[in-house]
Amino acid sequence: MTPYEAFFAAVLRRLDAETAHRLSFGALRAVAAVPGFARLGATVLGPRDPALRVQALGLDLPGPLGLAAGFDKDARGVDGLAALGFSFVEVGTVTGQGQPGNPRPRLFRLVADRGIVNRMGFNNAGAAAARDRLLRRRARRWRVLVAVGVNIGKTKVVPDAEAVSDYVLSARQVAEVADYLVVNVSSPNTPGLRDLQAVATLRPLLTAVREAADGAAGRHVPLLVKIAPDLADDDVLAVADLALELGLDGIVATNTTVSREDLASPAADVEATGAGGLSGPVLRERSLQVLRLLRHRVGDRLVLVSVGGIEDADDAWERLRAGATLLQGYTGLVYGGPLWPRRVHRGIAQRLRDNGFASLADVVGSEVSS
Ligand code: FNR
Repeated sequence: MTPYEAFFAAVLRRLDAETAHRLSFGALRAVAAVPGFARLGATVLGPRDPALRVQALGLDLPGPLGLAAGFDKDARGVDGLAALGFSFVEVGTVTGQGQPGNPRPRLFRLVADRGIVNRMGFNNAGAAAARDRLLRRRARRWRVLVAVGVNIGKTKVVPDAEAVSDYVLSARQVAEVADYLVVNVSSPNTPGLRDLQAVATLRPLLTAVREAADGAAGRHVPLLVKIAPDLADDDVLAVADLALELGLDGIVATNTTVSREDLASPAADVEATGAGGLSGPVLRERSLQVLRLLRHRVGDRLVLVSVGGIEDADDAWERLRAGATLLQGYTGLVYGGPLWPRRVHRGIAQRLRDNGFASLADVVGSEVSS
C-alpha cells in the first residue's frame, strides 16, 4: 500500500466524496500559492525525458498525460495541478451563465471498482469568471508554464433550441485564454445535452463555436469535440467524419458512461448512488474501442485525446499504440494520488526505452501498422 492509499483508506474514504475533493484540492492550491512551489513541483514531478515530448494542437508539451475536465471546473488550481506533473490541464466544463449544479450529494465512489459516479451538473461560476481567473493567472510571474484547455458546455436553463448561442457565448469569453477549446456534448448530467452529438445539431454548433472562438481570439484556437462512450459505433464514425469535414483539430474520447454493467460493487451500493456518469477502469474497454474506431477512420488527420479508465502506464501505452496522441485522466488521480501523473509518465518513458522507440510520435498508432 502506498502512503496515499493508506491516507485514502484512513481519511479521504470516510469523508463525503465532494468534501474530500474540496479539501484535497484546497490543500493543493494552498501549497501551490507559495511562490516557487508550483514550478518546483512541476520540475520535480513533471516529465523531463525529451522522448516524452509531444507536438500537438500547435503546442509543444513535455509529455502526453493531461488532467481531464471536471476536476478544476472554475480554473482555480491550474498551477497546483501542473505541479503534480500533468503536461496540460483542461479546466471546465464552464457554461455561458454561472449555475449551482445539482443538489448534493452528487459525487460518489464505487471503491470496489475504483470508480466514481457523478451528477455534478456543470456547477461553475460561468465562462466569464473562468476567463477573468485565467487572465489574472497569466499576469502572475510565478505561474507554471503549462498548457490550459477550456471545456465548454450548455447552461441548464437555456432551452435546447438556443444551445448554439450559449456555447458561442462561452467560446467568445474563453477563447483568448484557451490553448485549446473542447465542446462538451457528452455529459449525462444536463438534460438533452448528449442529443447534440447527432450530426445534424453538431454541425451548426461546431461551425458557430469555431467562428466565434477564432474571431474573439484573433488566431486559430484548436477546437475539439468530446464524445460519450455510450454512442453507437456508427454515431462515433459520423462524428469523426464531421470533424474531418469541418476541419476540427481533434476528438476527446470519452466522457463518463451511463451504463452500470460489469461492476464489482454490490448492486445495492450502485443503486444507492443513483443517476450520473460513471468513470474509472470500467470505462477502459469501451474507451479503447472508441479510440480504435476513430483511429481507423481518421488516421493521423485529427489529434485523438484518449480518456476513460486510464489507471497505469500499461493503459497509457495501449492507448498510445492504438492511436492516441494525448491522454487524460481524472479517476486515476483520485485513487492513485498526487504521484500518479509522474508514475504514468515514467512508465511510458520506460516502455519507450524497452521497445526501442526514439520518440512518442513513433509509438502513436503503431499497433495498426505492426
Ligand atoms: C467528470 N468529467 C467531466 N467531463 C467534462 O467534459 N466536463 C465536466 O465537467 C466533467 N466533470 C466530471 C466530474 C467528475 C467528478 C468526474 C469523475 C468526471 C469526465 C472526465 O473528464 C473524464 O472524461 C471521465 O471521468 C473518464 O476519465 P477517467 O475518470 O476514467 O480517467
